[in-house]
Amino acid sequence: MASRINLLSVVLALIFTAALASDSSPLQDFCVADANSAVLVNGFVCKDPKTVQANDFSFSGLQMAGNTSNAVGSNVTAVTVAQLPGLNTLGISLVRIDYAPWGINPPHTHPRATEILTVLKGCLEVGFVTSNPENRLITKVLKKGDVYVFPIGLIHFQRNVGKEMAIAIAALSSQNPGVITIANAVFGSNPDTPSDILAKAFRVDKNVVKFIQSKF
Ligand SMILES: *[C@@H]1O[C@H](CO)[C@@H](O)[C@H](O)[C@H]1NC(C)=O
Ligand SMILES: *[C@@H]1O[C@H](CO)[C@@H](O)[C@H](O)[C@H]1NC(C)=O
Repeated sequence: MASRINLLSVVLALIFTAALASDSSPLQDFCVADANSAVLVNGFVCKDPKTVQANDFSFSGLQMAGNTSNAVGSNVTAVTVAQLPGLNTLGISLVRIDYAPWGINPPHTHPRATEILTVLKGCLEVGFVTSNPENRLITKVLKKGDVYVFPIGLIHFQRNVGKEMAIAIAALSSQNPGVITIANAVFGSNPDTPSDILAKAFRVDKNVVKFIQSKF
């Protein structure tokens, strides 16, 4: 009996943890984001359901490639609650990612979402790194039709290893997954993170840190 109660409490604890690990569940059919409300809540206030239209649940333009002529050679077109107000409270969003040949989506993490990515075109090398102390890189080369999952919070990247443009589409388990691009957050913070802190953390000279900071 005692072990059954223990098992039950473990299962309940797991369910509770799972509920906390992603966006909270809706308490009604939908809650279309009211971008004009001055009320601050976790997410967005609901528009009056009687005024909601089909367009509140719709986004157009994902057939168009993003412009990859930039320093990293990739472009993310996001469809989060900011672009599609009907996503509010639903715990899900979508992105299209375009990659120039050898373009990268640089190492980054989503504080609020697991990501599941499908290659629509081309060939991508993808990977994520596990947390301390292993910091294990788990990586694979994907071709058209392959799917990969990046677990919530872990640092991950993609690189186009083909000769043509590559395209991926990814779903994320938050209406607002957030992005922390590691290089930008570490070397491009505003104001600068003190260079002696980064010098010690990266085990390099302060001038190396200042040089990298000057690139952001
Ligand atoms: C991504 O592509 C869009 C559409 O072409 C463009 O407006 C935007 O500046 C691009 N973003 C980056 C980071 O290059
Ligand atoms: C893509 O971005 C580059 C750099 O900003 C710009 O020079 C170029 O005109 C853009 N291409 C398109 C098709 O918008």
